[in-house]
Amino acid sequence: MAKIKLPAAPSNPLSSPKRPGKEYGPSGVLGHAEEAGASAVDWIDERTSLSGGLRWAMFRKVPKGTNWFYTLGSATMFAFLSQAVTGVFLAMYYDPSATRAYESIQYINNDVFLGEFVHGMHRWGSSVMVILIFLHMGRTFFFGAYKYPRELNWVIGVALLVMTMTMSFSGYLLPFDQRSYWATIVGVNINGTGPLVGPYLSEFLRAGPYFGATTLSRFYAIHMLMVPGAIAALMGFHLYLVAKLGTTAPPWIKAKAPEELREDKVTVDQ
Ligand code: HEM
Repeated sequence: MAKIKLPAAPSNPLSSPKRPGKEYGPSGVLGHAEEAGASAVDWIDERTSLSGGLRWAMFRKVPKGTNWFYTLGSATMFAFLSQAVTGVFLAMYYDPSATRAYESIQYINNDVFLGEFVHGMHRWGSSVMVILIFLHMGRTFFFGAYKYPRELNWVIGVALLVMTMTMSFSGYLLPFDQRSYWATIVGVNINGTGPLVGPYLSEFLRAGPYFGATTLSRFYAIHMLMVPGAIAALMGFHLYLVAKLGTTAPPWIKAKAPEELREDKVTVDQ
């Protein structure tokens, strides 16, 4: 009877098997660091299988003609994330009380390390986010991306737009200086003139019939708890739909119909 040859025993049974594509294992500090990183990621992936979902989300096919205008959505998302990070640092020093709010902003600007820089990033970043969201909305509109099957993503986008404007409006009061105080009174009054819900909306924003100390707490809660959470959740759903449905090709790219699907011309003899 023919004997099956046993495979050769590994020279060092304690060494880990070589990674595919690497002939001679890790070499040098960088090689070992790379190996350690890959092993840590493998360890997590073996227990969670997250890489499948990540691959699904990241390695999507994009239509022919995809261009720089398609980066406006991601740019809006980046602006939101920047607002969230800078906002967390501002919240460490900001005091939302009517008597301390103005002073706490002065303290951030004049005394806190990099305070003026972070405050400036947050203030200018809000305008950047509003500009980007409008540009992104314009891109999806002019490319016809609101049509079937992406109507729901458009509707979610409208909700994101309203919430982004709410963030700008509620944030404007927080420095509690003369400009922000009077501008917000005007804004709340404008809301009050809306049909049916207007008066209830302005009462909700003021936290009562008059503009007072509790109005500032109300605006602060809307600005840093209520709306950002909702934006983050809706953004997740928005991106899920983008990954699931794919993006729309630019309107000037025409799909080539296969020969057999072309419409046949039927001529009828008289
Ligand atoms: C916080 C705000 C928003 C974020 C972070 C965001 C993010 C994104 C991203 C990353 C994409 C995919 C790439 C791209 O086309 O840019 C996308 C696609 C889309 N977004 Fe937004 N978006 C936001 C607001 C809006 C608004 C205001 C609308 C419209 C009212 C909208 C409607 C759409 C539509 C219809 C698509 C699909 C585009 C296509 O299929 O080509 N989004 N969004």
